Amino acid sequence: MLDQTQLPQREAYIETRDYREVCTAIRRLSVRGAPLIGIAAAYGLALAEAAGVDLATAAAELASTRPTAVNLRWATNRVLASATGGSRGDGATPALAEARAIHEEQIAADMRMCEAGAALLAEIREAAQVRGALRVVTHCNTGALATGGIGTALGVILTAHRRGIVRDVLVDETRPLLQGARLTAWELERAGVRYRVIVDSAAAGLMARGEVDAIVVGADRIAANGDVANKVGTYGLALAARAHGVPFIVVAPTSTIGQVTPDGARIEIEERAEDEVLQLGGRRTAAPAARALNPAFDVTPAALVTAIVTERGVVRPPYDEAIAALGALSPSGTAMAGAPS
Ligand code: MRU
Repeated sequence: MLDQTQLPQREAYIETRDYREVCTAIRRLSVRGAPLIGIAAAYGLALAEAAGVDLATAAAELASTRPTAVNLRWATNRVLASATGGSRGDGATPALAEARAIHEEQIAADMRMCEAGAALLAEIREAAQVRGALRVVTHCNTGALATGGIGTALGVILTAHRRGIVRDVLVDETRPLLQGARLTAWELERAGVRYRVIVDSAAAGLMARGEVDAIVVGADRIAANGDVANKVGTYGLALAARAHGVPFIVVAPTSTIGQVTPDGARIEIEERAEDEVLQLGGRRTAAPAARALNPAFDVTPAALVTAIVTERGVVRPPYDEAIAALGALSPSGTAMAGAPS
């Protein structure tokens, strides 16, 4: 696993055969991003299986590492369900074969979301009669680093940029752990895309100045009614976007939809360590006795979301109907056999 906590300074890898180290890597955000933690947990279960560890115990441990992203539980449930079969023809154990399938499906889903998302941005450009290409704001990191494929929201931005639909990318630095400034900027740099990092609190003012044409973000969990949990700060972006008539687009695979989560109020929001807020780069920046409150995510109500791009198509309000129409989803959000694809 690429240790994302060390980016952009160092490209260092974590090598392990111990699923508990996968748990640690997920907890400390060495691997992060909703789809990627699902994939990492699935491979973690394959390691547990190879080591003869009880799979249900390992799955419970992996699934408890982070509470908000539904992909984690979705992936461990899938691997657990598959692990009752015998070894596959290619010598892969059932858990390893299922982990590879989850990984490959994510790569394919990313490609489909990028196509649908780029087409949606082209529509937005036409409707708004924007001269030239769009200027977009994105939050956190939703690229290859977050999915194992080409990314969700950032994949859409990259695809649209290649097609001349997007020109300027404004990257929210994403306090407190700087996934935007460290990771999204790193990815955009490697892709040769022009971008600028902004402090999270600059976005609203830039929208007021008419310098933003669309917001494109990912999701950690989408409720059945279309409420969206994503990195803290997303809700503020959505409120500002609504106030200034800027389209607010969410890009996420259907594995991020929690069908047993009826609305955003039922989404558990991860609370992380105070030091993440009180320190910067390992050095304390807050006053000596300061305490912090550090929710890692927030919930954007469906009413503020212009459209949700999934690998099964673009859904628009009313979301409860549109999400249900995506296909029969099992309680964990997995597509059921026979569901329309
Ligand atoms: O805490 P993180 O870095 O795992 O948070 C990630 C996000 O909030 C992403 O926007 C979300 O997982 C979608 S990743 C395609």
